[in-house]
Amino acid sequence: MLEGKTINLRVAEEDDVSLIVGWWGNTQYMGEYQDVMTKTLPEFKKIVLENTIFLIIEKNEVKIGHIVGWMIGRTMEIGFALIPSERGKGYGTEAIQLMVDHLFLTKDIARIQVTTDVRNKASQRALENVGFAKEGTMRKYFYAKGNYRDHFLYSILRDEWKELKTLKEESKV
Ligand SMILES: CC(C)(COP(=O)(O)OP(=O)(O)OC[C@H]1O[C@@H](n2cnc3c(N)ncnc32)[C@H](O)[C@@H]1OP(=O)(O)O)[C@@H](O)C(=O)NCCC(=O)NCCS
Repeated sequence: MLEGKTINLRVAEEDDVSLIVGWWGNTQYMGEYQDVMTKTLPEFKKIVLENTIFLIIEKNEVKIGHIVGWMIGRTMEIGFALIPSERGKGYGTEAIQLMVDHLFLTKDIARIQVTTDVRNKASQRALENVGFAKEGTMRKYFYAKGNYRDHFLYSILRDEWKELKTLKEESKV
């Protein structure tokens, strides 16, 4: 468990698969800029169990979203989403900060990156709050909702992170 101030992150387990599958197949959860994921349950289960996906959990134990990281060479890329009712309350910013603390603390990486639709202001502001820098525009990078979309590439380097910002306690996950 990664403990933050208003939320915690916990690695998703087999019992969480149906919740996550429900979210990833839901248009509202995936938001305006991403398509839902259409896969079979066994395919979803494989993805959830073979990747380290963290559930974002409020202090009252309510599960409100997910954040996940995957390696591209020696770079870590992350993706995240919250249920619509819990957006705009600072939880996204805190979840990204916790994930950045955790990844720089536990992985031999120099950089964490995120790509986000150029129209996705909430994502961009949350990343900027955490210290991510906008590197540029990836033209027609992502295919969603029937169109190729431009994405901004954001990154934070280990040198820019410097120290733990949010994580209260680090334990094995
Ligand atoms: C992106 C997301 C995770 C951000 O989390 P969040 O909890 O809503 O964001 P926060 O409450 O931490 O707010 C971050 C900043 O964005 C701003 N913001 C929030 N919603 C906004 C909106 N709809 N439009 C513009 N700015 C917005 C906040 O005011 C805040 O800025 P500030 O610190 O300057 O005041 C969440 O909105 C979400 O799940 N969206 C749908 C899925 C998605 O787009 N995932 C990201 C793919 S890259």
